[in-house]
Amino acid sequence: MIGAILLVASLYYAPWIIRTLRKWIYQYPYVVKLPGPKGLPLLGNMLDLAGDSTAPMKFWSKEAEKARAKGDGVFCMTLFGRVMTFPLNGEAVKSICESTEELTKGKDYDFLHPWMGKGIVFAIGQAWRDRRKSYTPIFHNRTMLEGYVDYFNKHARVTVEILGEVKPGSTIDINMMLKRYSLDAICESSLGFTFNVQRNPEHPYILSVDKFAYYLQRWTNEPQMWITWIWYALYHYTGYKDCLDTMNRLTQEVLDNRMAAVKRGEVDLDAEKRPLIDHFIAQYEKGDWTYEELHLECNSAIFGGHDSTSCTLTWVYWALATQPEFQQQCYEEIYGIFGDSDRDCTHDDMNAMKFTERFIKETMRIFPPVPLIERELGADFQMGKYLLPKGSEIFIAPHLVHHNPEVYPDPFTFDPDRFLPENIAKRSPYDFLPFSAGPRNCLGQKFALHEMKTIVSWTLRYFSFHTDRKLLDQEMRIEVVTKTSLGCHLQVTPRKVKK
Ligand code: HEM
Repeated sequence: MIGAILLVASLYYAPWIIRTLRKWIYQYPYVVKLPGPKGLPLLGNMLDLAGDSTAPMKFWSKEAEKARAKGDGVFCMTLFGRVMTFPLNGEAVKSICESTEELTKGKDYDFLHPWMGKGIVFAIGQAWRDRRKSYTPIFHNRTMLEGYVDYFNKHARVTVEILGEVKPGSTIDINMMLKRYSLDAICESSLGFTFNVQRNPEHPYILSVDKFAYYLQRWTNEPQMWITWIWYALYHYTGYKDCLDTMNRLTQEVLDNRMAAVKRGEVDLDAEKRPLIDHFIAQYEKGDWTYEELHLECNSAIFGGHDSTSCTLTWVYWALATQPEFQQQCYEEIYGIFGDSDRDCTHDDMNAMKFTERFIKETMRIFPPVPLIERELGADFQMGKYLLPKGSEIFIAPHLVHHNPEVYPDPFTFDPDRFLPENIAKRSPYDFLPFSAGPRNCLGQKFALHEMKTIVSWTLRYFSFHTDRKLLDQEMRIEVVTKTSLGCHLQVTPRKVKK
């Protein structure tokens, strides 16, 4: 019986084993010359990563420190035949981020393909270039951005109302609150429709997004889940597919309703301020995109736009609550702009919130929201003095680059002045990459900064946030985005607003 199982398993896995062996024979002579921790045969550095989801970042940080001490600008590790190189400074990062050839994302994103397909986030070659060209003007257009800020204000008002209903001085789960705000903000800006999840937290869409995040977290952190039959055997596939179906069905409903409204002449696709979906429908009507592509872009915008923003905001509120002196500085700046008024935040206010912006950026330096930016090499690649083999992967971990002591002295000290213009000018743009950098950087970075400044300015006008913990008590849990190891429960106290 056991013999039969082994025979079936080896026949089933034979193509994978042959592929991995051939790749390994090619890559081995390169790997031995690269600095980094030596792993076990096949398992590679698997045991070094074992533990909870905070373990990988601890291991990578330790290896980065060792490599830097020896004067190396990269380190390399292996995992089940995969070869992964981590650049440690802006110069090494620049070489890969500026490449217009090496744009293929790593394998760890495979889980997301059924939701986003070959949309902008995963497209390569000419398909990616076409998408990028079509998206770029939207995110650089001031009027369009102003339209999005209207939505942010609308949903931030709801957040303030909800916080006002909380018993003064009690503790709330700030992460959940920010997730719902971000989802409402991105759905209305992308789909022109809101599920109002802040007021309707049991809506099937938010339940599915939450469940999807749960499966994603298990898939990312448990390598056995990468083996298809284990995934099936544990029935995860069933739950995963259910939430995927719900999300797709709801997006399709919104999309079909919007297209019907366009046909009835109720929606102007050329309006100066318009949600992303109208731009997408216009591409479809011109014949540039298929219906499926249109649907995938709606999914990509929602995924790209909500999880990374809500997780960044969670770190921002953590940094505010643990550092009351900086919270006071942000509050004073915001009070200086808005006084006691309850007016909306405008595009001009965004430029006036200079300290708040520096504070948000320093938070993103210490706790970068996207843990890894991955590329799979289609050809041998020269990174400074290191030659990396074709088929291997580059893992840019912003956390490692952001804690390079040569660029950021005393890197664990929180100092918003690192983002004063004169200090930014002293370093390379590749030394700070929460939004990645180069031709494939984040298209939504201005959008995200506006969304974050809007909610911070609204909530700080009316409330202060506290915890007895210290900033660095939190460790980073690695998922598709970085999560707080301790959750984020903060005490909320109303401010006295003069009327
Ligand atoms: C704080 C919030 C955000 C962070 C930290 C962030 C970070 C990133 C990063 C690191 C990438 C590069 C990923 C890679 O190459 O593997 C990326 C790509 C992208 N982001 Fe964001 N993002 C944020 C918010 C947004 C928002 C709000 C939108 C849209 C409304 C958006 C749209 C995109 C798109 C479309 C891409 C793909 C660009 C391309 O491949 O050409 N992002 N983002």
